[in-house]
Amino acid sequence: MRIDIITIFPEMFQGPFSESIIKRGLSKGLVSIHIHQLRDFTTDKHKRVDDYAFSGGAGMVMMIEPVDRCITSLKAQRTYEEIIYLSPDGLLLNQAISNQLSLCENLILLCGHYKGIDERIREHLITKEISIGNYVLSGGELAAAVLTDSIIRLIPGVLNDETSALSDSFQDGLVSPPVYTRPRVYNNWEVPAVLLCGDDKKIDAWKYEKALERTAQRRPELLRDND
Ligand code: ADE
Repeated sequence: MRIDIITIFPEMFQGPFSESIIKRGLSKGLVSIHIHQLRDFTTDKHKRVDDYAFSGGAGMVMMIEPVDRCITSLKAQRTYEEIIYLSPDGLLLNQAISNQLSLCENLILLCGHYKGIDERIREHLITKEISIGNYVLSGGELAAAVLTDSIIRLIPGVLNDETSALSDSFQDGLVSPPVYTRPRVYNNWEVPAVLLCGDDKKIDAWKYEKALERTAQRRPELLRDND
């Protein structure tokens, strides 16, 4: 899989993409991430990529020309299944969306800034708009990093069997059951005995029961969504 990210802050991705699971996916060659500085695509001599909104109002608006030039140059080289704009008013990200996107070969993520982007970008260039939550970030970069992480961990081979994404919260519509590690007793706080009984069937039943109980307590809307 290939992910192209268009941004005016390329350095923001250095940290998240150079550690842990994303790093592993990159070094195994299972995914490649290409970050494009939007300013490289403007014809403006001051490298400006934003301008005042027609009709006034607070805030600058990202211009269509550099975005179009960047997206057009990428599309000339390969076919993209989705060109995604990260926006607080987009489709709320969930596991099903990440699962679908993880099956794509090529994706473009556009990170917005300022007060928004020229609406014509959304109308003519973007195929999908995604929000990572009902709050406003300073730009789309952190949202793009979150989306990228949630997709890459699903690509076969990125995780090993032990950390398989199939056992993630939300994959079966439930949050994960509690987990424990050594020591068996700490401060008189004990690990549930069933986890030490060695009977896989019993343990699985306990995990399912706990996942169900937790989902009902913490995220009851997930159980309703499954109806
Ligand atoms: N850009 C700003 N806020 C955002 C959000 N919540 N999700 C996606 N992109 C954003």
